[in-house]
Parts: sequence; C-alpha cells; structure tokens
Amino acid sequence: MSKKVVVVYHSGFGHTARQAEHVFNGVAAVDGVDALRVSVENVDAHWDDLAAADAIIFGAPTYMGSVSAPFKAFMDASSKVWFTQGWKDKLAAGFTNSASQSGDKLNALLQMMVFSGQHAMVWVSLGLPPGNNASTGSVDDLNRIGSYAGAMAQSNADEGAEAMRESDLKTAEHLGRRVAEMALRMG
Ligand SMILES: Cc1cc2nc3c(=O)[nH]c(=O)nc-3n(C[C@H](O)[C@H](O)[C@H](O)COP(=O)(O)O)c2cc1C
Repeated sequence: MSKKVVVVYHSGFGHTARQAEHVFNGVAAVDGVDALRVSVENVDAHWDDLAAADAIIFGAPTYMGSVSAPFKAFMDASSKVWFTQGWKDKLAAGFTNSASQSGDKLNALLQMMVFSGQHAMVWVSLGLPPGNNASTGSVDDLNRIGSYAGAMAQSNADEGAEAMRESDLKTAEHLGRRVAEMALRMG
C-alpha cells in the first residue's frame, strides 16, 4: 500500500504557497508515495486526510517572529486530535519563509517542532549541509540559509513569489523528498 504525505500550510501573499508547492513536488517525485497539499483555509475538509497520513509537513510564513496567525489557528484546532493522540508516531517536518535572512524564522520552525512533539510525532530534520557559508559559497547553494531543523526560504519584501530563489525552492523539494523516503523506510 502506498504511503501518504500531506503538506499543510498557510500563505498570506503567495510566497509560502510557492514553497509548499515545491515541498509537494518533492513528495510526489517519490514512487509509492501519495502527496496532498492543503491550505489551512481548507483544512476542515481534510482532517480525515491528516488522520490517514503517514507524514505531515507543516509550512507557514514567519510573521512577527512566529508562525502566522492562521497557521496558529490550525495548530489550536488540532487540539481535538491531540485529545486522542491521533497523530502519534506519524512523521512531521516543517518549512518557513520570511523577508529577512534570519527574521527569527528559526522560531517558527521550533514552534512546529514542539507542536509535533505535543502530538507525539517524529520530527524529520532537513538533512542538508549548510550552504553559502564559505568563500566558495553562493546564494544559489542548496540550504543557503543554513537551517538544520527544516527548510527555510527568504523572499524580498518588495517582490512577489515569482522572484523566489531557485535554491530555496530546491531546498523545499529536498525536504518533501526526504520525508517521503523516510515514510517508505518506516515500513
Ligand atoms: C504581519 C507580518 C509580519 C512579518 N514578520 C516578519 C518577521 O518577523 N520576520 C521576517 O523576516 N519577515 C516578516 N514578514 C515578512 C514575511 O515573512 C514575508 O513577506 C513572506 O514572504 C510572506 O510570506 P507569504 O507570502 O507566504 O505570506 C512579515 C510580514 C507580515 C505581513
């Protein structure tokens, strides 16, 4: 039977949605894994899909150093699942996007990591070496922001989602692929 991986995300202005699309593409590229992408705005139609998932990948823009409010509303709504520990032992992973190089976006990933722990899920890290941290490095490196906890992207505040860097989108794809491969290894 195929494995199921759901990408659940929020995006106010399209940047994190584009990142989510690439995470989804990474999942979908792995044979034997079904991928689904759900915006938190539509999550009420998808609680059963989340219950059936082998892995859930969380994504939110960093707003005010935290996950965005609509994503937090989804987190709070999931407390109904928490009561029955319905996501116990599923894989979890996360991605975030913000305007600044840091912008405190690690905090958003840490919020997702703690959240997955509350649900007794198993957190999957990014699994890439840091890029762009040597004289030979460049912004085109995979994992150019140098995250370990999950996939990060940086989008200039005055540009739309179409201007996002390929390196960030490939990093997002990598995360999706890695989680899908891990789901297959879970047997
Ligand atoms: C309310 C709000 C708060 C923000 N706070 C941060 C922040 O703390 N750090 C940062 O680097 N960028 C911050 N930004 C910029 C967004 O993270 C950035 O524009 C991002 O690309 C938006 O993603 P989205 O298009 O998926 O909503 C903020 C933007 C908004 C609208």
